[in-house]
Amino acid sequence: MEAYVLEWLGFLGRGFHLVAGIAWIGASFYFIWLDSHLRPPRYADEAARLGIGGEVWALHGGGFYRAQKFAVAPPELPEPLHWFKWEAYSTWLSGFFLLALIYYAGAEVYLIDRSVAALSKPAAIGIGLAFLAGGWIVYDLLCRSPLGAREPLLAGVMLALCAAAAYALTQLYSGRGAYIHFGAMLGTIMAANVYFVIMPGQREMVRAKVEGRVPDPSYAARGKQRSVHNTYFTLPVLFVMISNHYALFTQARHAWAALIAIALAGVFIRLFFTFRHRGTVRPSFWAIAVALLAAVFVALAPRTGPSDPRPAAFADVRAIVEQRCAGCHAEKPTYAGFASAPKDVRLDSPAHILRQAASVHQQAVVLRAMPIGNLTQMTDAERLTVDAWFRGGAKAD
Ligand code: HEC
Repeated sequence: MEAYVLEWLGFLGRGFHLVAGIAWIGASFYFIWLDSHLRPPRYADEAARLGIGGEVWALHGGGFYRAQKFAVAPPELPEPLHWFKWEAYSTWLSGFFLLALIYYAGAEVYLIDRSVAALSKPAAIGIGLAFLAGGWIVYDLLCRSPLGAREPLLAGVMLALCAAAAYALTQLYSGRGAYIHFGAMLGTIMAANVYFVIMPGQREMVRAKVEGRVPDPSYAARGKQRSVHNTYFTLPVLFVMISNHYALFTQARHAWAALIAIALAGVFIRLFFTFRHRGTVRPSFWAIAVALLAAVFVALAPRTGPSDPRPAAFADVRAIVEQRCAGCHAEKPTYAGFASAPKDVRLDSPAHILRQAASVHQQAVVLRAMPIGNLTQMTDAERLTVDAWFRGGAKAD
């Protein structure tokens, strides 16, 4: 029953997180698009009277829309005024809920990999939380330091720190645990940017309006810088959100390098679009992104290793799968915490194993993603046996 309830919590949490994330990133992409498509107002008299700096005309869902941006502020504060902050907060909160539910409550399965580091559950969770908080503190200090005024240099330092963090995480956690913490660290920076920098800036704008003075420009400059950073974090974070479906990356030998290369490709793809919005087409940005992805493609390509020359018998494979896999992958799993066979993959009868020989080979030999966290301690010799059997045609004896 408990595992059943956990499944539901995971489902509801994921659903909420996905929708909140779409709302946040959608709004953020839209406003960046809007800002870079502003044109001089069409009705100049009205614009001059109201202090409108630029506008965008658009057609959507059967209506004409005119979005206007004021050069400084509207003549009077309108009611209601939408702040677009709960999109960010609810995305972070639901993300943290999922992290705690899946990776912290289920740390033994999803976070800790004893072949990487034999962490205790509290230590693994403590380190994870330290990465989330530490990532924000270091990033915020960097932005406030003299480096903050030198964007290219700041970007270089941040890339190096991200690479170091990704490397450290892969030395501590399972592949997917490392990836998710990298993404959660960036996501925390993004949400904290909204909470600690962008929102205070907007409050200052409103305060200044009420008090009839010019807003302190330092707030606006800082808020702008952080929202630009947030834009470039979006694609890397989205990649991490789907990475747990790709043991191809999370189980790669240099998983941290693949993560950084793909995240960087995401940054360049986003750069291409932000430049294009402003009318500058930079094919080189696409070229860099494609080159990075191609490099990962080549680096991770499967190599046919030395295979066991002796053909393996199905009886041996069956015994291995029974011992190493069927505790979880059964109609009624015996492994604690599993209510049903994960991903509906059952390996508890010869027929099931034979039918899914290709997935068994893929997960246990090619990707080494299973047994998850190698919880049932499958040995290399056993993986070679499965490999030899599969290459020999995956036949029953
Ligand atoms: C401790 C429990 C556990 C053990 C033992 C285990 N698995 Fe899994 N397996 C899981 C979980 C959890 C998932 C779902 C992972 C996810 O959410 O992506 C999974 C998923 C799978 C999938 C589906 C992969 C996909 O992405 O579609 C296959 C195939 C698989 N396991 C095969 C195996 C094989 C083969 C073994 C034995 C060598 C094994 N598993 C041992 C827990 C286990």
